[in-house]
Amino acid sequence: MAGNVTFTMIKPGAVAAGNIGAILKIIQENGFHIAAMRLTQLTPQQAKQFYKVHEGKPFFEDMTNFMASAPIVAAILTKENAVADYRKLIGATNPAEAAEGTIRRMFATKISDNAVHGSDSDENALIEASFFFPSMERY
Ligand code: CMP
Repeated sequence: MAGNVTFTMIKPGAVAAGNIGAILKIIQENGFHIAAMRLTQLTPQQAKQFYKVHEGKPFFEDMTNFMASAPIVAAILTKENAVADYRKLIGATNPAEAAEGTIRRMFATKISDNAVHGSDSDENALIEASFFFPSMERY
């Protein structure tokens, strides 16, 4: 059975563009509960650790340096079927391929700056949520 937890980051480009509020509004309007949230800036080392599964890929260095270049918003979202529903709401990784009405279609500029991250599995959602938030900071 699908879990009810996913993890998201609003990425540096979308934060700098002033889109935190608009993105959170869409997330809430689509039935997600914000169980934890923080504005923070990753170190390059933390970004590399978070995205370890992509280590070795050609975009790894640039992507992790970008993620550490300015503040991000990290959040745990809960909802029935959270991982799949959130991936549907944010759209394809490449905003050029993201469906009309999705967050990446509306707020992303390019694949390396694609507005938001969303967990790709229930297992990774729990790992990613724990990377940022202890259980006592979840509501
Ligand atoms: P995200 O969902 O945060 O997971 C990994 C990120 O790597 C992804 O969003 C993209 O921003 C980035 N990414 C994936 N593929 C590419 C690519 N081919 N070129 C540049 N960045 C990429």
